[in-house]
Amino acid sequence: MISFARGVPAPELLPVEELADCAKTAIERDGASALLYGHTLGYQPLREWIGERHDVDPARVVVTNGSLQAFHFVLSAFAGAGRVIVERPTYDRPRKILSEFDEVPLDEDGLDLDELERLLERVERPAFLYTIPTFQNPTGVTLSEERRRRLADLATRRTLPILEDDPYGLVRFEGASPTSLFELEEGNVMYSSSFSKTIAPGLRVGYVVLSEAMAASLEDIVASTYITPALVTQATVLEFLRRGLLEPNLERVRGLLRARRDAMLEALDRELGGRARWSRPEGGYFLWLELPEGTDSTELLGRASEAGVTFVPGSDFGGGRGSARLAFSYASPAEIDEGVSRLAGLVPATAAA
Ligand SMILES: Cc1ncc(COP(=O)(O)O)c(C=O)c1O
Repeated sequence: MISFARGVPAPELLPVEELADCAKTAIERDGASALLYGHTLGYQPLREWIGERHDVDPARVVVTNGSLQAFHFVLSAFAGAGRVIVERPTYDRPRKILSEFDEVPLDEDGLDLDELERLLERVERPAFLYTIPTFQNPTGVTLSEERRRRLADLATRRTLPILEDDPYGLVRFEGASPTSLFELEEGNVMYSSSFSKTIAPGLRVGYVVLSEAMAASLEDIVASTYITPALVTQATVLEFLRRGLLEPNLERVRGLLRARRDAMLEALDRELGGRARWSRPEGGYFLWLELPEGTDSTELLGRASEAGVTFVPGSDFGGGRGSARLAFSYASPAEIDEGVSRLAGLVPATAAA
């Protein structure tokens, strides 16, 4: 089975030996603190490292067991404050977590801000906007610099809280990094990220940067959830960072993922050129496929699985019937080439939608 469904790194992307050594050092040297209950909001020296990286007081940094946990905590802080606005399509887990939400479509330049403004005219008071502006899951699209400035401006004018979820920003293969929403509008933007895509997801180390008051207000719910997050992996991540291993690891990971992205784009051009359309991300894990008019991607998945290739239908993310998310992070370039060929063989020969 060739999987374009799994949004996870291929095993060779993981820095196994380096992490083993960092974990040993972290326990031997810092075990007296990392093996006890510690600060509710995360391993203090890692909070300091992250604070420095984002130029904020460490008291504003909440380090969690993965950034999805940070989403839950932010949500709890907004309980009773109206509905969350999400992108359409968006990451399927927040869609499942939120019982109701409002949606704003996105295009190849990211969130459609005219639509957002129209929605804001209608809804009385949204809780916050949840956005993944860089290499979005599931589409791979990135919010343009111009739209980032406009969105930051809108957040200021309307006092619209924004949760900027940015686990993929550093996984860029080419092109210049745009300014983060957080850098543009610190007052209303909460910023979450993770070491899942830059080091390893099994570490379960993510974080969110909030106002100091909001971070402090989370202490009770965080303590009631897990007393203290998993500190040994946080100490391990810190050791990895202090040894200067992040940048070389990113270089390696970017190279491996870029080869996979290139293999997928080349195979799509060859196999589906003129018949379907897809995004061309400059980084991240995913691209978004729009199949020919009339194709039902859920039905296609049934046949594709029989042919030994899987993906996630776009409808899981709020996308249209003929859309699909293809992850290029897991399969090897050769498998990607073969998987796209198999998939294309099942797609009707009509023109793109
Ligand atoms: C957009 C987005 N946010 C958050 C997460 C969760 O990351 P973590 O492993 O830090 O919980 C993912 C994981 O795939 C993701 O794609």
